[in-house]
Amino acid sequence: MLNLVLFGPPGAGKGTQSEYLIQKYHLVHLSTGDLLRSQIASGTELGLRAKLLMDQGLLVPDEVVIGMIESKLTEHGESAAGFIFDGFPRTVKQAEALDQLLAQHNTGITTMVALVVDQEELTRRLLIRGMSSGRPDDQDEATIRRRVTEYNEKTAPVASYYEQQGKFAAINGIGTIEEIFASICQQIELAQLS
Ligand code: AP5
Repeated sequence: MLNLVLFGPPGAGKGTQSEYLIQKYHLVHLSTGDLLRSQIASGTELGLRAKLLMDQGLLVPDEVVIGMIESKLTEHGESAAGFIFDGFPRTVKQAEALDQLLAQHNTGITTMVALVVDQEELTRRLLIRGMSSGRPDDQDEATIRRRVTEYNEKTAPVASYYEQQGKFAAINGIGTIEEIFASICQQIELAQLS
């Protein structure tokens, strides 16, 4: 199986690149942000509680997102060619839980690829998207800044977790979508060889 963690701050291009990667590698795309937004759209209690945090740019509790990933892994089982984890894991606790869940399915993470984009560019992309997406967390610079702060404080350490396992590559996330896609594919192929 090819199990990829696509990593990077809000607006780095994880969702955009995931769409290309699932076409090429036939992977199942697991985006915790999308799963949470679907709970919000369905008006579930989980969704209503998550929305309060998401709209402020804060992470939802680990247990909530780990539970969602666990049920998706069970649903797809070992029949999938692999998974792209987009927006997950976002804390070291989530990364540890993911390793345990994948081990139960006799597999593990192949590699993490981190998209490196500076804060000015992230803010520019998200404010532009906010005009059409309607995502409450894209609407103002203060909320975007809080999302980036959450990323720097709680999520950035996840990179070291995979680096220590020799499963980490950082690439430039600025450029055309095609250039960035080619760099990600190169890193996947290197990881598959090792
Ligand atoms: P989530 O939905 O994961 O949002 P995010 O990480 O903030 O990511 P985005 O979707 O904003 O950005 P992206 O990197 O996918 O970039 P995209 O391709 O969309 O999470 C939302 C919230 O849910 C969190 O804040 C948290 O509250 C909660 N949550 C989710 N997962 C969680 C977890 N595991 N634990 C706890 N809480 C969790 O691109 C952005 C824009 O840039 C687009 O308009 C795109 O067209 C444009 N763009 C993309 N690539 C380029 C390029 N190369 N050049 C120019 N523009 C580009």
